[in-house]
Amino acid sequence: MTTVIVENVLSKYKNPKRDDLIPILQKVQDELGYLSKDAVVSIGKALNLPASKIYGVATFYNQFRFKPLGKYHIQVCRGTACHVKGSFSILERVKSILKISPDETTRDGLFSLEVVACIGACGLAPVICVNGEFYANLTADSIAKIIDSFKDKEKKETTNE
Ligand code: FES
Repeated sequence: MTTVIVENVLSKYKNPKRDDLIPILQKVQDELGYLSKDAVVSIGKALNLPASKIYGVATFYNQFRFKPLGKYHIQVCRGTACHVKGSFSILERVKSILKISPDETTRDGLFSLEVVACIGACGLAPVICVNGEFYANLTADSIAKIIDSFKDKEKKETTNE
């Protein structure tokens, strides 16, 4: 799958050059969800750049991820309004329940965590966003229940298979 995605992105460039690296990385990440090792190597071959050089550039920008996101990607807003309403304790609770830090994914691949700046729903603070869906006016206890509900959903889906 990685190869197809990378080839598809690269096919849009006639003669990909070093200046195209960032947009190529962005497009591949959009499609793949992250920059896999295979993707970095393939991009490097196309641009005639060593993988180490690509990692060097990509790690400079915090928009790039090198691990796949979880099935449930939790974005905890740490903007000012959410901070004032207690987003720090929500973040700490998520970290403690999932035993991961921001920008990590749980071992089972179910959850990933990202800290974001204002996501534009300050009136509903504190807010998190899971796979594009907002959860508002949270407390440390309500976030625990939300995570439990995802775990329950997974259990049901697993037992129904
Ligand atoms: S500060 Fe969190 S939504 Fe604006």
